[in-house]
Amino acid sequence: MKTLVLSAAHQQTAKIAAKIIKDGELVAIPTETVYGLGADGLNPEAVAKIFAAKGRPQDNPLILHVAAPADIEKFCHSIPASAYLLAEAFWPGPLTMVLPARDCVPKCTTAGLPTVAVRCPDNAVTREIIRLAGVPVAAPSANISGKPSTTTAQHVYDDHNGKIPLIVDGGPCQVGVESTIVDLTEERPRLLRPGGITPEQLLAVLGDLVVDKAVTAQIDKDAVVKAPGMKYKHYAPQAEVVIVAGSREKAAAYIHRHATAKDRVLCFEEELPLYADCNPLSYGREDCVETLSAGLFAALRKLDNPQIHKIYARCPEGGGVAYAVQNRLKKAAAFQIVDAEVEV
Ligand code: TXA
Ligand code: MG
Repeated sequence: MKTLVLSAAHQQTAKIAAKIIKDGELVAIPTETVYGLGADGLNPEAVAKIFAAKGRPQDNPLILHVAAPADIEKFCHSIPASAYLLAEAFWPGPLTMVLPARDCVPKCTTAGLPTVAVRCPDNAVTREIIRLAGVPVAAPSANISGKPSTTTAQHVYDDHNGKIPLIVDGGPCQVGVESTIVDLTEERPRLLRPGGITPEQLLAVLGDLVVDKAVTAQIDKDAVVKAPGMKYKHYAPQAEVVIVAGSREKAAAYIHRHATAKDRVLCFEEELPLYADCNPLSYGREDCVETLSAGLFAALRKLDNPQIHKIYARCPEGGGVAYAVQNRLKKAAAFQIVDAEVEV
């Protein structure tokens, strides 16, 4: 199959993409978080093509993307007031809500769960595609399962050239990490995945928030978890990733003691001079955490090379968007962290 790449700026793109989705085929769509691999979320055969293209485990449900916040009422029932408050505050935007699913949502989209994840993305062309298709678009991150997510059309092309009919190129994704996921189906709202909408922002609207254990710790692959996607090894390049915590100086000293010629250093732009002799790669500025979230997956993809033995990574501290960056890097590192303040 020939894979067409069309600019989101082109007038006909949304119409062409919507027709392909209506016809039950896949389209890679830009969003503010990462590129998604989209299909008609109400069509089981189309949804099956997403799982096949990604090599995604069948027990991992998909997010349904809607063109307008009010559309969730078509696909969800028993919607609590908190969902309307969150939609009002953060949609369109990088927030996904888990709500009770209506019967019209097929089992393959929800992986058999009684709930469905819904999101209204902050990308005008993608919302137009969804509106014109007239169906909600199921879309996981477009990466092949287990690989770092796709934040440019080129990343999608690298993973799916020849396998999907269309990639809509909307330029690099601004947020760069996948949406925040909050489960609203229990008594207390539960954060299943941190993202561009921060825990502090959620708390300000909800007044309460439980952080799921899958956010902060490695989950056994046989465990029963709220967000099935959280238990898989994720976002990881082929090399072993180790996070080196501690001050700039202590971390640099630790890395210089341990790194070999086959290793690479993933650091902040401010730290590049410290690693001039060990082939460093910066993923953004420590003093502007949004550049780190926007740059992380592109950097992990650059380092996804079988020649590289180990990656020593620096991770931002604190809350806000840094919390999401920490989560993705820790998952890439399988929660391997050394503290350069105490270890030599
Ligand atoms: O930013 C994003 O959310 C991107 C863009 C394309 O919108 N999509 C994305 O999808 O990250 P994906 O499939 O890579 O991640 C979806 C996560 C998975 O961890 C999945 O297990 C979880 O959402 N999920 C989906 N439906 C769920 C449900 N009903 N209950 C709990 N978790 C759910
Ligand atoms: Mg994903």
